[in-house]
Amino acid sequence: MWLTPLLFVAASFVQAQDGNTTALFPNATYPGAVSPDPAAAELTAGTTSPPFYPSPWGSGSGSWADAYTKARAFVSQLTLIEKVNLTTGVGWEGERCVGQNGAVPRLGFRSMCMQDAPMGVRDTDFNSVFPAGVNVAATFDRGLAYARGQAMGAEHRGKGVDVQLGPVAGPLGRSPEGGRNWEGFSPDPVLTGIMMAQTIEGIQNAGVIACAKHYIGNEQEHFRQAPEAAGFNFTITDSLSSNIDDKTLHELYLWPFADAVRANVGSVMCSYNQINNSYGCQNSYLLNYLLKGELDFQGFVMSDWQAQHSGVGSALAGLDMSMPGDVLFDTGTTFWGTNLTVAVLNDTVPEWRLNDMAIRIIAAWYLVGRDNTSIPINFDSWTLDTYGYQHFVANEGYGLINEHVDVRAEHGKLIRQIGSASTVLLKNTNNALPLTGKEKLTAIFGNDAGGNPNGPNGCSDRGCDNGTLGMAWGSGSANFPYLVTPETAIQNEVLNNMGAVESITDNFASTQIASLAGRASVALVFVNADSGEGFINVDGNIGDRNNLTLWQGGDTLIQNVSALCNNTIVVVHSVGPVLLGNYSENPNITAILWAGVPGEQSGNSIADVLYGRVNPGAKLPFTLAATREDYGTDLLYLPNEGTDAPQVSFTEGVFIDYRSLDEAEIQPVYEFGYGLSYTTFTYSKLQVTRRDTGPYLSTTGLTSAAPSLASSPKNTSGYLFPSNITRIPLYIYPYLNSTDLETSANETDYDLPGFVPAGGQDGSPQPRIAAGGAPGGNPQLYDVLYQVDASITNTGSVTGEEVAQLYISLGGPYDPKVVLRGFQRLSIQPNMTANFHVDITRRDISNWDTATQNWVISNYTKTIYVGSSSRKLLLNSTLS
Ligand SMILES: *[C@@H]1O[C@H](CO)[C@@H](O)[C@H](O)[C@H]1NC(C)=O
Ligand SMILES: *[C@@H]1O[C@H](CO)[C@@H](O)[C@H](O)[C@H]1NC(C)=O
Ligand SMILES: *[C@@H]1O[C@H](CO)[C@@H](O)[C@H](O)[C@H]1NC(C)=O
Ligand SMILES: *[C@@H]1O[C@H](CO)[C@@H](O)[C@H](O)[C@H]1NC(C)=O
Ligand SMILES: *[C@@H]1O[C@H](CO)[C@@H](O)[C@H](O)[C@H]1NC(C)=O
Ligand SMILES: *[C@@H]1O[C@H](CO)[C@@H](O)[C@H](O)[C@H]1NC(C)=O
Ligand SMILES: *[C@@H]1O[C@H](CO)[C@@H](O)[C@H](O)[C@H]1NC(C)=O
Ligand SMILES: *[C@@H]1O[C@H](CO)[C@@H](O)[C@H](O)[C@H]1NC(C)=O
Ligand SMILES: *[C@@H]1O[C@H](CO)[C@@H](O)[C@H](O)[C@H]1NC(C)=O
Ligand SMILES: *[C@@H]1O[C@H](CO)[C@@H](O)[C@H](O)[C@H]1NC(C)=O
Repeated sequence: MWLTPLLFVAASFVQAQDGNTTALFPNATYPGAVSPDPAAAELTAGTTSPPFYPSPWGSGSGSWADAYTKARAFVSQLTLIEKVNLTTGVGWEGERCVGQNGAVPRLGFRSMCMQDAPMGVRDTDFNSVFPAGVNVAATFDRGLAYARGQAMGAEHRGKGVDVQLGPVAGPLGRSPEGGRNWEGFSPDPVLTGIMMAQTIEGIQNAGVIACAKHYIGNEQEHFRQAPEAAGFNFTITDSLSSNIDDKTLHELYLWPFADAVRANVGSVMCSYNQINNSYGCQNSYLLNYLLKGELDFQGFVMSDWQAQHSGVGSALAGLDMSMPGDVLFDTGTTFWGTNLTVAVLNDTVPEWRLNDMAIRIIAAWYLVGRDNTSIPINFDSWTLDTYGYQHFVANEGYGLINEHVDVRAEHGKLIRQIGSASTVLLKNTNNALPLTGKEKLTAIFGNDAGGNPNGPNGCSDRGCDNGTLGMAWGSGSANFPYLVTPETAIQNEVLNNMGAVESITDNFASTQIASLAGRASVALVFVNADSGEGFINVDGNIGDRNNLTLWQGGDTLIQNVSALCNNTIVVVHSVGPVLLGNYSENPNITAILWAGVPGEQSGNSIADVLYGRVNPGAKLPFTLAATREDYGTDLLYLPNEGTDAPQVSFTEGVFIDYRSLDEAEIQPVYEFGYGLSYTTFTYSKLQVTRRDTGPYLSTTGLTSAAPSLASSPKNTSGYLFPSNITRIPLYIYPYLNSTDLETSANETDYDLPGFVPAGGQDGSPQPRIAAGGAPGGNPQLYDVLYQVDASITNTGSVTGEEVAQLYISLGGPYDPKVVLRGFQRLSIQPNMTANFHVDITRRDISNWDTATQNWVISNYTKTIYVGSSSRKLLLNSTLS
């Protein structure tokens, strides 16, 4: 999603881009670790996406039956105009939320409020700022993921939000430089899938519709939209295309979306980019076939903000809601609204498709119990002023727009807990940590330890890197209610112990730094690396990071301090991987911690770990490699097809992150799944139990026909703009402007041949998809085939938490060495043993077979491993 240019207008944070990008990125695209699988390795720029029509109508399958019964009853009362109203946003800045659709005042159904999102309610006040998704992944803790989802959902609900625009599984994190990876969870699809499901259940149990985004292949910020690229002087006619083969799609990028659908996510946001040269919001294969067909998604698909590129095309390809409704922001024109009414009346979009859009939207609304929620929208996204215009762009409707409702409850405690539970201890020489607080002189170094001189919200959408990194930038940000800095929290800690503490937060005050480092008993060095969404350029980083090194001279700072202090502890706040190879072996660096992007309680969370109130138990949700090239994948920083759509072919297939380094036999600095504790654990007694389940059955037969509601009358005069209301400027309406349809549409391409793809209007029963059958895919994919148990013993002297991990080798020539398939975070007291238990499902040991378009268990020997990281595979057994 895009920006709110008018909130906290601050120009200084956007810095001029280096004019010579060629100099910056002489060879920014390297081929990547080419997959041994020819299907991926042979991908080219010419890849296309096959058509699939008609768009599957929701059936109310799985847990959706009740919601569908109510939704059908509701929608059957609606007029054509009212149904169109539900599908189309009123335009950018037309109402108070970042997106709102049309209302049905006749039945008392208010306009739905769509609001960002993944770290807290955006563009308001008295909301919490939660830890980022990448931190949640690092906890490997399902309970914390759920609790965070529920708390975020409760805050959105309290502000009057209907749809929280998160969580994120796209980007998955193909390349560590990807600007928005931190909004999502991990480049591992299983870890991301589990965290997606927990977050969705939390949000929706709080009574708010979740939105799984951005579907799909949204793996970089550069070139995601042509107009945005133009703002950075890149001339391209279309968004980049992520070219992904069918097997990689299923085994990697689609996997967590399947989990989201299985968790009954109410909405899915289609992405800006093209996939195989077809736009995300009109790609019939991805929306109709995969999402609504194979995954049996019952909710609604909404466009990312300005990601819609056609009216009839997107409707038939499976889009259900146009956001924010206008063709481009604040143009007052729309692909839907009036145009969708026209398209139904001219028999281009069948009315069953419109009914299906409306039913899907209303069903999601009922599914999460919005009918029991009566909290009005009580904030405004475009200003924090108490009074202002309800219709911001039109300057109309002056009144009370911000009630400043405090929705935070006790969430600060949970945020502090997730912050410490997500802090990964990477190095701890001779028990340098935990500190006692009685160190004679504690020295704190780093811009990243202190505050932003302009305040925690001093840069619009957090588009700068000043002070400690509590949150990264873009539409995934929110306003801080406060930000506890490490400097403050550590100072409090030391003062409580009568110690001495000094801090230097100017990374370039080298004289003072040298003097303090030489005197310190312990030096705590805080460094960071930031990134965000592509509409903001910070220090030449257009969303995506230009490099994997530390920002603000962080590397020099660490070197300067550690050269003079033999008890230097490095704390990294970063959006993802950074290069730490120089520090892992440096004897003066006695400890390294990765604390991610922890949110408002940052300082308290890190102090809890540093001073031993919390024993670290988090594990790396990505690989920390020695060099950028070691990852094998990278982003595209310069257009590679002239002015045509840039092409990024995912030739590495499923080999990203640890799968890539394993395949290339590259030693990482710290591997995926790695993390230390203040205690130690041993692993023993692996036991694998086979469970008897029947054979895997393909889903067969036909769907029902498209549900038929009474057809709307076709006489155009009934749909004209009502004479008794005053039009709000730039507002998007569903009405006709004229009884002549073509005049109403005001479209240059009106009535061009070839608008309706073959089968697009067919409402007759359709073949069911073999790998489908229920939300999330064929239910038998989730049958448990094996149960794995192991014993984990705490051999140290303090209670600790261990994330035991289960990996599988699928054994085929194109399979990664191992893939994560399960984990459990166990709290274990000294000398006690806990049981580790993971269920292995059919999906876990299957590969996607492109020939049969189904999951199959190959004949290759499957080996399971249980261990403490992706490279410490301590126990193993083959599956019978
Ligand atoms: C940009 O940098 C490259 C590599 O240093 C150089 O060859 C080229 O001449 C530069 N272009 C401009 C316009 O300065
Ligand atoms: C980029 O080019 C430089 C100089 O030609 C080379 O040394 C370096 O290895 C290249 N990097 C990658 C990732 O290909
Ligand atoms: C369509 O939605 C707009 C905006 O919420 C509302 O003003 C209008 O009355 C709605 N039209 C109908 C026919 O319900
Ligand atoms: C784009 O090019 C124009 C004209 O050369 C220049 O004024 C502007 O600063 C450039 N913008 C960026 C973001 O580089
Ligand atoms: C209908 O859609 C076209 C683009 O396909 C757009 O140019 C036109 O303005 C739209 N009509 C209305 C009334 O918004
Ligand atoms: C703020 O951050 C930017 C980079 O994001 C940096 O260039 C600038 O020097 C910083 N300003 C202060 C006061 O730290
Ligand atoms: C990496 O990017 C950051 C942020 O723009 C910058 O501060 C740093 O100097 C860059 N590192 C290198 C080695 O260029
Ligand atoms: C480690 O710190 C000591 C001072 O305590 C210094 O003399 C030494 O050179 C440092 N070693 C390194 C590798 O920086
Ligand atoms: C670190 O330096 C201090 C003072 O210079 C010294 O007393 C101590 O033994 C050193 N520790 C190590 C582990 O070298
Ligand atoms: C029907 O209406 C839509 C929306 O305005 C338009 O794009 C399409 O060209 C029209 N088709 C026909 C056959 O009139």
